Order: sequence, then structure tokens, then C-alpha cells
Amino acid sequence: MGQIAIFLLHTHLLLGVGSSLVIQSMPWRVPCPHQCVCQIKPWYSPQSVYREAPTVDCNDLLLIQLPTSLPQETQTLRLQSNLISSVDQSELQGLVNLTELDLSHNSFTSTRNLRITDLPALLSLHMEENQLRHLPEAAFFGLPSLQELYLNHNRLRSISPGAFKGLDKLLRLHLNSNRLVVIDRRWFHALPQLEVLMIGGNPVDTIQDLNFKPLSSLRSLVLAGMGLREISERALEGLQNLESISFYDNHLIKVPKEALQKLPGLKFLDLNKNPIQLVQRGDFRNMLHLKELGLNNMEELISIEHSAMENLPELTKLEITNNPRLSYIHPQAFQKLSSMESLMLNSNALSALHSQTVRSLPSLQEISLHTNPIRCDCLIRWVGADNDKPVRFIEPQSTFCSEPPELKARRVKEVSFREMADSCLPLIAPSTFPSYTEVKHGDNVALHCRALAEPEPSIYWVIPQGVRLTPSSSYGRYQVLTEGTLEIFGVTAEEAGFYTCVAQNLVGADTRSLTLQVEGGDLVRARTQKTEDSFEVQDVKERTKEVSMPDSLPDLTPAVLLAVSALLLLFAARACHGGASFGWKDHMLELEKPHTTILTQEAKAFIASPIPVKYLNQQDPDKVLSDGRGKDGRNTSPGQDARRLTKEAC
Ligand SMILES: *[C@@H]1O[C@H](CO)[C@@H](O)[C@H](O)[C@H]1NC(C)=O
Repeated sequence: MGQIAIFLLHTHLLLGVGSSLVIQSMPWRVPCPHQCVCQIKPWYSPQSVYREAPTVDCNDLLLIQLPTSLPQETQTLRLQSNLISSVDQSELQGLVNLTELDLSHNSFTSTRNLRITDLPALLSLHMEENQLRHLPEAAFFGLPSLQELYLNHNRLRSISPGAFKGLDKLLRLHLNSNRLVVIDRRWFHALPQLEVLMIGGNPVDTIQDLNFKPLSSLRSLVLAGMGLREISERALEGLQNLESISFYDNHLIKVPKEALQKLPGLKFLDLNKNPIQLVQRGDFRNMLHLKELGLNNMEELISIEHSAMENLPELTKLEITNNPRLSYIHPQAFQKLSSMESLMLNSNALSALHSQTVRSLPSLQEISLHTNPIRCDCLIRWVGADNDKPVRFIEPQSTFCSEPPELKARRVKEVSFREMADSCLPLIAPSTFPSYTEVKHGDNVALHCRALAEPEPSIYWVIPQGVRLTPSSSYGRYQVLTEGTLEIFGVTAEEAGFYTCVAQNLVGADTRSLTLQVEGGDLVRARTQKTEDSFEVQDVKERTKEVSMPDSLPDLTPAVLLAVSALLLLFAARACHGGASFGWKDHMLELEKPHTTILTQEAKAFIASPIPVKYLNQQDPDKVLSDGRGKDGRNTSPGQDARRLTKEAC
């Protein structure tokens, strides 16, 4: 809702409606209708022209008709929240200067009871919150000067093609929160000067091609809360002067990039609260006047991909907040955003923001990162770097580290540069990765896996058949895309099973697994549905209950320990049980069983990948600590990570 408020604020700014002036009402000494209040009050026209308007306030008086003997000089007549169901021209006779009439929140059921034939000075008519069901032809014929018409929060199901005939001066039309199921282009032929159209909150699921074509003067369009699933390429064609558009709270599953390309003057774009999963390469490209973009409150959003935003030379503010699954912003997500000053990324699931991302924004002044699970030992090195120009943190007092444990609850800003590592382990965020997914037979499935790390990790998948799939390889119905998404085309019962994603760089690897259930297929055994988690202490603890402990330990290399989180258990076992030697081969037998436990799949996944030689043959975790860390990684070496887990797991 906050987003809508902000959006409307933009709209106001666009129209230059100033409202910060506080001007007192003045007495107006006239015979005033019974119970009403007559005062001279400040008033702004829809085009922001200021007036001191003789005003009669008769709101909330249980009136069933207009009061008699209204003063002739009345310019503003407020009758909201009464029980009026009809008005006749004769009741307004002589009010030659009436500019605003407020009949909102009354009992009108039809505009036929609005028998106004001639109010030449009326600029603003409020009919919101009545019970209008239909607008007939020329429903507002006697109002040739009308600039502003409020019909929101009625029960409008249908509007005749020529309903707005005679309103050729209209600037703002509010049709939001009605029961319209289609938008008819013919309505707009009568409104050549319209600048603002609010039509959200109607159960419209499709915008037809050229739906708004006649509205070449339109500057602001609000399509919020409508149930829109997609926007076709030509849906917004003709809106040559549109500056602001809101798709807040619809059902869009991807950015309507082709349609947006038809809006050459767009400055403000609100896509908040849509079920978009990925912001993809080219989604926002060459929008030369875009100033502010909002991608907030998206339950499904998990990733901002490479070149998602490219060549937006006037973009100054980007808001990507309150997206509970958003854990990945590609280091090169932003390209040629030369004016970007303000980057809002708070309240997501981001563990870090890559320094490359920050450096790609030459005008960046402020950044908001609070309420994210930030890993302070890693990838956040730009924070304290001296050679870069300073970027201001918004709410630095509440921007905390959540990892590693020794930095937990420290303020990100206060972590010294020395405490951060040059390189770090990949991390597949738990929020992006469900442990269980059910799909319908025949569906196309996309399983997304993204990991932040330095150096950039490579990603591969291990599918139930035990095959390891790397990006750009394909196998049967499977394909892995460069970004890390596994696609399955036309899924059948055969594809049900256990899938593991491995993200790996030279520091180590992270793995996560999920069970894919195909509707109608056999249930995959429950024990494979356990959530796989990475290097989280509590998760390791949980697993110790679920997986039986071996009596002794295989001959593991530290790299194995680092790479495969579940194997930390075995390490834990050694720490707990004293650790006699144990043949790796003995364990392999168990590992050979097809997708029975998480451990099996993970180990397989690991075995399929090469181990950097320098990590081999080191058994002592303390050795890892001294040899395997990055040069700045005093507190952050993966070896220590493993050691910590070991201790905790006992
Ligand atoms: C209407 O407004 C005009 C111009 O401000 C003014 O001269 C005229 O007296 C007003 N008429 C009435 C009835 O108040």
C-alpha cells in the first residue's frame, strides 16, 4: 500500500499539485443552509490553480436531498456521506460559479438521477463510493468544463462506448475499484486531453491491443490490482506521452518488456507485487527516460540476472525491497546506469552484494541493505575500501551481519576491511530453494539455482539418474542454462526424484537438493525429502539425528569436508568418537545406492567434480586453516568453518 501511496505522490508531482501550503479558512458571512458550514477555503484546480473558494460544507448530515437556498456565490459544495440518490438542475440553479461538487459516499444507483444539464463552471465532480452500476451514453453531458471525474468505488459493470461524450476537457478520470471486466478503447475517443487514468481494482485480466490508443495525452496510468497475467506487445501502443505506469499487485510472471518498449517517455515504473521469479537479461533495456523503478514485495522473485538492467541513462532510483526469496543479484546485473544514485535493497534474502555491482554504478550515493542475511566476511569488501568513493548506508545502525558467527550482530559498516576475505565459498541461499516441488505431468519445469561467491562459482545439477549436467549440456528432457536453472520439458513420472544443485569454486562448494514429485506419479520415498542445507550449525545438528553415525571416519580430504556439507557429519563423528581410520571405499558402497539419502547424492555429486590438487591430502583441519585460506581470511577460512561445525555438532 505504501507503494501505491508513493506512486500517487509521483502522479501528484507530475501534475504539479502543490499541497504543502497551509492556508487557513476564513469566515464567509452569508445566510448558510441549516446545519451546513459556510467558509472561504483554499482550493486548487486540477491544474493546480489556487483559489480562495466560497465553500459550503454539508457533509455527514443524513441528507436525502440537496439543501435549499444555497448561496449564489458558492464555488465548492461538499455533500459527501449523506443519503442523496438524485440531484436536479433546479436545485443548483443560479450557482454559476460552482466549480466543485462532492457527492461521494451517497446513494446514487444511476447517473439518470444526476439530472445536471448545465453547470458550465464545474471542474470537479465526485461520485465515488456510490452504487452506480452502468454508465449510459453521454452520462455527464451538461459539464463542458469538467476536468476531474471520480467514479471509483462504485459497482460499475458496464460503460457505454460513448459514456464520456462531451467531456473533452477532462484531465483525470478515476474508474478504479469497480466491477469492469474489459477496457473498451471507444470510451477514450471522447477524452483527447486526459492525463491521468486510474482503472485498477477491476477484474480485468487482459489489456487488448491498442486499448489506450486514443489517449495520446495520457501521462499517468494506474493498472493496479487487476489480475493481469501478461501484457501483449501492442497493449500500450499509442501512449506517446505516458510518464508513469503502475502494474502493482497483478499476476504478471515476467516483465512485459516488449510492451514497455512502446512507452518512449516513461519515467516511473511500478511492477511491485507481481509473481515474477527472474528479472532477466534485457528486461529493462534502452528505456531512455526511466527515472525510478520499483520491484518490491515480490514473493517469488529469486534472481536479478546478468544485464537485467541495461542502458537506462536517466535511472536515478532503483527499489528492489521486501522480496523474501531474492538472494541473488548477478555481479553484472546493472549495465550502463550512469545516473543511478539510490539503490534500495533492504529486506531481501541477499547474503552479499558483489563489489562489481557497486562499481558498475558510477553515480551511486546511497544504498540500503538492512534486513538481509549479510555474510560479512565475504563479497562485501567494497564497504570499507578506501580507494572507492564512499557510498552512504541508509540506516547503518540497523544494517547487521548475520554471518559468520564471530561477526554476527556487528554492524556491517563497522566490520574492518581486514576481516573480509578475498575469496569465499559459494552459498546457495535456502530461501531460493524449496526442498519439495510438485508439478503436473506434461508441464515444463524450471528449477533455479543461484550462488554468490568469489570467484564466481560454476553450477551443475545431479539428476535422479545420477547424471551430472553442466550448463549448456542437455540430456533427455533436461537442459541446464548458464545462469544455473535446470529446465525439464514435458515432465513425466520418470523425472520424479531427487535433484541436487552444486555450486563450486576453488574455495569449495555448496549443495542443495530438492525432491520433484510428478502429480500422478509414485511418491518418492519420504526420507529423500529432507531439506538439504549448507553450512548452518543448527542444520548439522538436525542431521545428526536423522543420519546414522558411522563408527569411524573415512579418509577424507579437507576439500571434501568443505565441499559437501553433509559430510561434515562424518567429521563431526570423528571429533565426537575419537576418529579411528576408516576406508573411503567402505563408505562408497553406501554411496553407490541410487538416490536414497541426501548424503548419497551429495557425495556422488562431489565425486563427479574435480578436486583442486592443492586441497588434497590434508587431514588436519588446522592445516587447512593455515594453508587453505585467502590472504585476508583470518576469521573466515573454510577450514575453520568446518572446525566450528564439528564442535557444534557434538
Ligand atoms: C462569479 O465569478 C465571477 C468572477 O470571479 C464574479 O465576477 C461573479 O460575481 C461571480 N458570480 C457570483 C454569483 O458569485
